[in-house]
This record gives sequence, C-alpha cells and structure tokens, in this order.
Amino acid sequence: MKIAVSCKNLTKKFDSGSNEVIALQGINLDVMDGELLILAGPSGCGKTTLISIIAGILTQTSGTCDVYGQNIHDLSPLALCTFRSKMIGFVFQAYNLVPTLTSAENVGIPLMIQGMGHHEATEQGREMLKKVGLEDRADAFSSTLSGGQQQRVAIARALIHSPRLIVCDEPTSALDSENGLRVMSILKDLSMREKCALIVVTHDARTYSFADRIAKMEDGRILKIISPHEALE
Ligand SMILES: Nc1ncnc2c1ncn2[C@@H]1O[C@H](COP(=O)(O)OP(=O)(O)O)[C@@H](O)[C@H]1O
Ligand SMILES: [Mg+2]
Repeated sequence: MKIAVSCKNLTKKFDSGSNEVIALQGINLDVMDGELLILAGPSGCGKTTLISIIAGILTQTSGTCDVYGQNIHDLSPLALCTFRSKMIGFVFQAYNLVPTLTSAENVGIPLMIQGMGHHEATEQGREMLKKVGLEDRADAFSSTLSGGQQQRVAIARALIHSPRLIVCDEPTSALDSENGLRVMSILKDLSMREKCALIVVTHDARTYSFADRIAKMEDGRILKIISPHEALE
C-alpha cells in the first residue's frame, strides 16, 4: 500500500503574546492510501492543529509532513495552493458554506477556483449531491438546510475535485446520532469507492467502528494507534 501522509517529529508552538502554547510535541504518523484513520482525543490535545498542518493550512514549527511524497511545506505559496486544490479536501467543523449560494453552487466552488465556468461547476455540483443523497435540495440556499444536510453539502464540496486526501474536523459534532452515523457511512463509502485517504477527527466513540485505525492523542502527542475493536472494548 502507498503512503498518503507521512509526519515525522512534527512540532507546533503558538506564540500568543507572553504565553507560548506547545500544541504538538513530536508527532510521527503514517496514513495509507485508501485508509480511514480516526484521530481521537480530548479537546485541546492538538487534533485540529495536526490536520491543519497536514492539509497545508498551518505551518509546523519543526519536523516534516509529506503528502503523497511531496513535502508540502517546501512548496511556494502558489504551488501549495495548486497542490491543495488538486489533492486535498477539507471538511470543516462549522461547514463554512456560503449562505447566499445554492447547495449545488457551494459544491461547485472548488471547480470554479480551478477555472471552470459557473454553469458547468454547478451542474457537476448537482451530480455530486446525488452521491450524498441530497439531489432534491440542489437548488435550495444552503442557509435553509438542516445541520445534517449542510454537513453533507460540505462533504460533497470537499470531494468534488476528487482529492486523494480528505481531512474532516469533527464532521459529526453538530449532528444528532442518526445524521452523524449517516455522514460517517457516506465518508466511508466514498473513501472505499474513490480509494482516497481519509483522516477524520472525532471524539464521538459511536463513529469508531468506521475506522481502519484510531490514533489516540493527548497533550500534543499520539499515545497509541489501535483498531476499532480495541477502542470499543
Ligand atoms: N491560533 C492559535 N493560537 C494560540 N493557541 C492555539 C491556536 N490554535 C490552537 N491553539 C492551542 O493549541 C492547543 C491545541 O489546539 P487544537 O489543535 O485546536 O486542539 P483540538 O482540536 O484537539 O481541540 C490548545 O491548547 C489550543 O488552545
Ligand atoms: Mg479541534
């Protein structure tokens, strides 16, 4: 199997005025192509910081992070932007949809960023919405959707440009348990079908059974990597 993500001795310090926060203290982690890895751990342990570095949104203090063999923090800002827009999909905790656009338009945004015209991008957005079971809400403004529907639109948007790596920050935290499980099974299905690597941050134990492996974090470190079976014991 191919390695999708390889982090070596990653550290991250935040300097907020007088006090320094050490968010990551030496992360070593490999994620394989086609794998669904869950990153679990208490609030403040560094989960969002880690996936933000992996997705090229934040820069580490030391150590390296390769995505499909590319040391992403070696790239120029423009090259990084191009790399991310081709290779990485990010599902944010707070959906980050544009409320004044329809679902199909929101999903088409990554294609418009790559230069596709509005009409074609929106039509492809509509197709992608079918895969998450939301074709009937394609023309609705995203502000009129329920939380579960908005999260499915956000997932469709993260997947539309066929990224090889998808990173999701607590995608089920704002959802009830039925919608949470539905979102996880959509992610799992798509990752198996598209053979991409998926990293999902969660502290919702109900989602563990969808993972191939679960990395447990605490205080900026990965304590252990276990199977869903071990996690639920
Ligand atoms: N931009 C920032 N400036 C200062 N401290 C930050 C910043 N982002 C995160 N932190 C701190 O880094 C630590 C890890 O945060 P985070 O990665 O958000 O944790 P998690 O996602 O596991 O809840 C926390 O102590 C948090 O307060
Ligand atoms: Mg977080």
